[in-house]
Amino acid sequence: MADTLGIGIVGVGFVGEYHAADVSKLEGQKLVAIAEPNEALREKVKSQFSVPHAYASWEDLVQDGSVDVVYICTPNDLHLPITEAAMDAGKDVICEKPIARSAAEGRAMIEKSRQTGRKLFIAFNQRFRPSHQKTKQMLDEGAIGRPFLAMSTFIGNEFERMSDPKNWKGTLEKSGGGVLIDNGTHLIDCLNWWFGEAESVVSRCRRLVISTQNKEEDTSLVAIEYKCGVLAELAITFGARYSTWPKGYIGAAIRTEI
Ligand SMILES: NC(=O)c1ccc[n+]([C@@H]2O[C@H](COP(=O)([O-])OP(=O)(O)OC[C@H]3O[C@@H](n4cnc5c(N)ncnc54)[C@H](O)[C@@H]3O)[C@@H](O)[C@H]2O)c1
Repeated sequence: MADTLGIGIVGVGFVGEYHAADVSKLEGQKLVAIAEPNEALREKVKSQFSVPHAYASWEDLVQDGSVDVVYICTPNDLHLPITEAAMDAGKDVICEKPIARSAAEGRAMIEKSRQTGRKLFIAFNQRFRPSHQKTKQMLDEGAIGRPFLAMSTFIGNEFERMSDPKNWKGTLEKSGGGVLIDNGTHLIDCLNWWFGEAESVVSRCRRLVISTQNKEEDTSLVAIEYKCGVLAELAITFGARYSTWPKGYIGAAIRTEI
C-alpha cells in the first residue's frame, strides 16, 4: 500500500462534508474521491477540496483504483450494501454510526470483514473526546472509587428532518429507528466502553411529539444493568425545540460529570 492512503467519501451531506474538510487537512491521507447524488453538493465539495474524482453513484467510487479506504457517510440503509461492495473490491471501510439499521445488518458487515480480511471501523467519535478518554482512564485506575449509577441525557430538535417523509430521518426504511439508534447509540457506546457488558436492558421508545405519518420514536427511556454492578439510564429525545447538541459540532456533545 502507498504511504498516502486514498480516501473516498460516500455521501457529502452534513457529516460527510465535515470529514471531507478533516481528511483534506491531515497528513498521510488524501481525499481522492467522493460519491454524492446531489449534483450541487457534489460539485461544491469537489471544488472546495480539489477532489480528483466526483461520482454520482457509490458503485463507481468503490471500483476506483485510487481509493484505499471507503468512508460511508450516507443514510443508514446504505451502510451494509456499500460495506459489502467496498470490501469485495479490496477496500477497508470506515462507516458512520450507527453500524446499520439492525443487529442482523451489523453482523453481516462484521462477517464480510472477517471473510475478506478488510478492516471495518465504526465512527463512534465520542470515544475520542478528551473528557471521555479521561473518564475511562479514571474509571480504569479506580480514581473515583466504585461507580454505581450513570445518568445520561440527550435533548435534541429534529422536528424538521423527522417530519419530512423525503428525509431519511423521517423514514423508518432508511433510518432503521429514531432517536435511540441515532444519537442514543453515542451514549450507549460510551457507557459500554466504560462499564463493559450489559446484564439486562429495559426500554420504552415512543413517538410523543413529532406527529407525522412516519413511524420511528422521537423519545426513549432506557435502563441498563451492567455485569459490573453499575445501573445506567438514558433519557433522550429529538422532540424538544432546542438542542443540547451544539449546532455545527461534531464529537463535542456529551458532557461528563463524575
Ligand atoms: N458521528 C457523528 O457524530 C454523526 C453526526 C451526524 C451524522 N452521523 C451519521 O452519518 C450518516 C449521514 O448523516 P447526515 O446527518 O450527514 O445525513 P445527510 O442527509 O446530511 O447526508 C447524507 C448524504 O448522503 C447522500 N446520499 C444519499 N443516497 C446516496 C447514495 N446512494 N450514494 C451516495 N450518497 C448518497 C445524500 O445525498 C446526502 O448528501 C448517518 O449514518 C448518521 O447517523 C454521524
